Amino acid sequence: MWSSSLLVLASLAVVGSASPAAAPSHVVHEKRDKIPSGWQARDRVEGHIKMPLRVGLKQRNLDMGPSYLDEVSNPHSSKYGQHWSADEIIDMFAPSQDSVDSVTSWLAEAGIASDRISHHFNKGWVEVQDSTVAELEQLLQTEYYYYDHKFGQSHVACEAYSIPSHLSQDHVDMITPTLHFDVPVRPNKDELQRKRRKRDLPSLAANNTASLPKPGAKVDMQTLSTDLADCDTSITIDCLRALYNITTGTYNLSSYGIVEYGFQSYLGSDLDLFFANYSTDLVGLRPTLASVDGGAPQSLIQNFDFNGESDLDLEYSMTLVYPQQVTLFQTGDDEESASFNNFLDAIDASYCTYDGGDVPGVDGTYPDEKPGGYKSQDCGIYAPPDVISTSYGTTEASFTIAYAQRQCYEYMKLGLAGVTVLYSSGDDGVAGNGECLDDGVRFNPTFPGTCPYVTSVGATQVPTGTDITTSLASGTQPETACETVIYSGGGFSNYFNIPSYQADAVNTFLTDYPPPYTARRYNNTGTSRAFPDVSANGANYVLAIDGEWEYVYGTSASSPVFGSIISLINNELAAAGKSPVGFINPTLYAYPDVLNDVTEGTNEGCSTDGFSSQPGWDPVTGLGTPNYPAMLELFLSLQ
Ligand SMILES: *[C@@H]1O[C@H](CO)[C@@H](O)[C@H](O)[C@H]1NC(C)=O
Ligand SMILES: *[C@@H]1O[C@H](CO)[C@@H](O)[C@H](O)[C@H]1NC(C)=O
Ligand SMILES: *[C@@H]1O[C@H](CO)[C@@H](O)[C@H](O)[C@H]1NC(C)=O
Ligand SMILES: *[C@@H]1O[C@H](CO)[C@@H](O)[C@H](O)[C@H]1NC(C)=O
Ligand SMILES: *[C@@H]1O[C@H](CO)[C@@H](O)[C@H](O)[C@H]1NC(C)=O
Repeated sequence: MWSSSLLVLASLAVVGSASPAAAPSHVVHEKRDKIPSGWQARDRVEGHIKMPLRVGLKQRNLDMGPSYLDEVSNPHSSKYGQHWSADEIIDMFAPSQDSVDSVTSWLAEAGIASDRISHHFNKGWVEVQDSTVAELEQLLQTEYYYYDHKFGQSHVACEAYSIPSHLSQDHVDMITPTLHFDVPVRPNKDELQRKRRKRDLPSLAANNTASLPKPGAKVDMQTLSTDLADCDTSITIDCLRALYNITTGTYNLSSYGIVEYGFQSYLGSDLDLFFANYSTDLVGLRPTLASVDGGAPQSLIQNFDFNGESDLDLEYSMTLVYPQQVTLFQTGDDEESASFNNFLDAIDASYCTYDGGDVPGVDGTYPDEKPGGYKSQDCGIYAPPDVISTSYGTTEASFTIAYAQRQCYEYMKLGLAGVTVLYSSGDDGVAGNGECLDDGVRFNPTFPGTCPYVTSVGATQVPTGTDITTSLASGTQPETACETVIYSGGGFSNYFNIPSYQADAVNTFLTDYPPPYTARRYNNTGTSRAFPDVSANGANYVLAIDGEWEYVYGTSASSPVFGSIISLINNELAAAGKSPVGFINPTLYAYPDVLNDVTEGTNEGCSTDGFSSQPGWDPVTGLGTPNYPAMLELFLSLQ
């Protein structure tokens, strides 16, 4: 799930062309463009093998979702800030009875006895018991094959499937098992062997290093300067407060969630080491643990890869927002780990069940039957916090459009509920995950940052030799795009249309500073979602890690710092009896002056210089870095 899957297997074309043609009343509902990397089709599946058919019904009114979100988050709307309750959101988008009935009659007409058809999960899924591969191939006009993964798993899937056009258009979202690598057939001896081997492998999520922070040199704390003039070499809490004019927190009235996955874990001793130097009131303080699907901080494995992200997120966030308490959503057990969808399941029961987009093989599968696995699935057990910062990311290309779209709508619903969702934009410039598409030519946008309903946070730096005290005194912002160790993720989506809130800003950039690339490299039409939206410092952070001090780099730092500022604002709003800021993009694009425009630096990748930071919005640093008092004043004035 976490590594990109860009390889197109040659064998696929053969399998695809062998699929039967759709009957006249049928249309192709889903079709694979690219097989996830590592998989290869093998033999046809025998017709008598049993596979339960599940038909996921379309949610209603999703097409209206973006305008509902605009109503509550556009600063010029009369309904600004009037966020929806969880029940209002469920009622608006739940599938209709008409969809249940239409799918049921289709199955009945195909000769499936009614006692084999059942409605699941609030009638959002229709399931057929005891269905065979032969029945499915007939119903869906497809052919099922075994697919082997290079690490030994085996799954059953097809390349495309067709259903009656009225169902495709109005009622069905997705059907399983089909394209997704999600059905472990009853294993034969060979497959049992392969499964055993799989257990010895690290979980997929352990390889999600796309946005994890990058380590640098050790910090000598004895000689480390505390002078703000030296923020060009070492970023500390004081540097961030000076750069973004952040005052210390006053209230504990809001909620701020930091999400961590799999083994990635903070060490209490590292937090205390950091607090002892930078925020003595916090010594002994820990985040509130919200465990998802068996997630628990671990201290067995201690090294940068396992502690860097969590230590960084918590040391800086907890200090910046104190006395606001931070909640840690530790997601996934040691065996199966987890994905963004597993986290979303935990804060929205309907996404977990009838709206769910979970795809085993991509998302963690719970209950986890492996020895030591978490034997339950966490659905809707936590209320979403007001702000969620996630410093993990992957690429659009590693998901199907349908999968990315479904998850993206979930962020839209969180926006309706008044939640701010922040994702780091990635550390590899225009080459998401360090990889490029189309034989290295095409830029590779990161996800979820390209979902129009999240706020994507890029990285800046204080260039060497710049004294921020001089710049700030003269009213100029001192930062450039980050070009130390990492490059700020940014660019243009291949999956999502441009949201109205950024259309002007993006087209101004494309017109005034046209990038020197053709449409082979990126979608240059000005009609696709562009990212990041904003940025914050991502270089030279002084971090307490594994009992030592080390420099770290990454948008992994930028996202939780930006989130901390939003959380401070939410606290002030709460104290004034106002609702949280919720989805901030429409407001920030409407009032870009509350951010410090960053105009220099590039985000190289794919053997190019990438894009360049320019006056106004740009696909490197977005609208710029936060100006806390200006943002606070604006958000206070809107309600
Ligand atoms: C994870 O990455 C390591 C090193 O890059 C690789 O050897 C391993 O096969 C990867 N595991 C998975 C499950 O992708
Ligand atoms: C920081 O914010 C205060 C108001 O809170 C303002 O008076 C001051 O000028 C700001 N400083 C800078 C450098 O922008
Ligand atoms: C950090 O704390 C350690 C002990 O907790 C102390 O030795 C060191 O001088 C401190 N450094 C700074 C820069 O405050
Ligand atoms: C903040 O509030 C939470 C409960 O909402 C509480 O557990 C925590 O102790 C409070 N923190 C401080 C510093 O007051
Ligand atoms: C560019 O993006 C838009 C909006 O998503 C899409 O309609 C268009 O087909 C894309 N163009 C290319 C060449 O991919």
